[in-house]
Amino acid sequence: MFEHNILVTGGAGFIGTNFIEYYTKVHPETRLVDLDALTYAANLKSWEMQKMMPNVVPVKGDICNRELIDWLFEAFDIDGVIHFAAESHVDNSIKDPLRFVRTNVDGTAVLLEAAKTYWQATNRFETSRFHHISTDEVYGSLGEEGYFTETTPYAPNSPYSSSKASSDLLVRAYVHTYGMNATISNCSNNYGPWQNAEKLIPTVIRKCLAHEPIPVYGTGLNIRDWLWVEDHCRAVDLIYHKGKAGETYNVGGHNEKTNLEIVGKICEVLDKLVPWTDHKYGELTSFVADRLGHDFRYAIDPTKIICQLAWKPSTTFDEGLRKTVQWYLNSLQ
Ligand SMILES: NC(=O)c1ccc[n+]([C@@H]2O[C@H](COP(=O)([O-])OP(=O)(O)OC[C@H]3O[C@@H](n4cnc5c(N)ncnc54)[C@H](O)[C@@H]3O)[C@@H](O)[C@H]2O)c1
Repeated sequence: MFEHNILVTGGAGFIGTNFIEYYTKVHPETRLVDLDALTYAANLKSWEMQKMMPNVVPVKGDICNRELIDWLFEAFDIDGVIHFAAESHVDNSIKDPLRFVRTNVDGTAVLLEAAKTYWQATNRFETSRFHHISTDEVYGSLGEEGYFTETTPYAPNSPYSSSKASSDLLVRAYVHTYGMNATISNCSNNYGPWQNAEKLIPTVIRKCLAHEPIPVYGTGLNIRDWLWVEDHCRAVDLIYHKGKAGETYNVGGHNEKTNLEIVGKICEVLDKLVPWTDHKYGELTSFVADRLGHDFRYAIDPTKIICQLAWKPSTTFDEGLRKTVQWYLNSLQ
């Protein structure tokens, strides 16, 4: 018998996979029901691993399917939601924005409404928590100076970040209109094992190993703030259990890097781990046309979560990047 039953959405994706691995270790008393549509972004290997875990129930399905969600709440007596599922790649959102509106906006609305209905009917609306995972991209783009805080006005620029901002506003509406016990986290760029091949770090590793040009958008000087994925998972765990209802927490490790720096660092790690005779991987760097509407800089001020929930990042970028590259090399064997 489990003490808690949490519905985790998107648990076969990059962060969801890492979260389930982490959470089942630190909270063995909880059963996680992982609802994932298994889109192209899902990790089928991690899905198969979850099938073998005694406290995980992987369920293939769509967060927009209200009937299925209602059934899951009842069948597993769900007393919490941790919502990761999303379309998450900015380039795809530029090509097909409606897919992002459907999953990220409609899907979040369906989950909120199903949770409200079930928790009200079972008299635990005030105590059951809904945690929504969002991104720093909702705040728009920074210049050379400044940081995003929880009170920075939303100014999303891509269809992806606009759809995430819309989902955050829906959560806010459920807090203010119905008194839902919900929290939101807005995190910076994550890196680590299990990230989909389309994203920057896995792309650079793959291109290097194939000795193909490494595509770098524009000048390569756009800045992102990088966080080791397990540090994000710990932050979500803390907010879910100790965060104040109705609050937003920004999560980031003060680790700003230009895209060119990221490429350079990955190349250096690979030069050591899998040397390329008479060459350095950095020689493969090649500049391609910039992404449409490419935001210049994101940077998080994590003071609130550090001061109020005693969270702090555990892993330095160099250490995390080395582990990440090693993980991809192992997974190719
Ligand atoms: N990756 C980052 O750097 C980052 C940073 C901040 C916030 N986030 C947020 O964290 C969450 C997870 O990001 P990620 O990088 O792990 O994404 P991902 O794309 O790797 O995984 C998303 C998962 O959601 C599933 N999914 C997609 N549509 C679905 C649907 N309609 N119903 C059910 N499942 C569906 C996919 O199959 C996949 O397993 C997202 O909400 C994202 O906005 C990501």
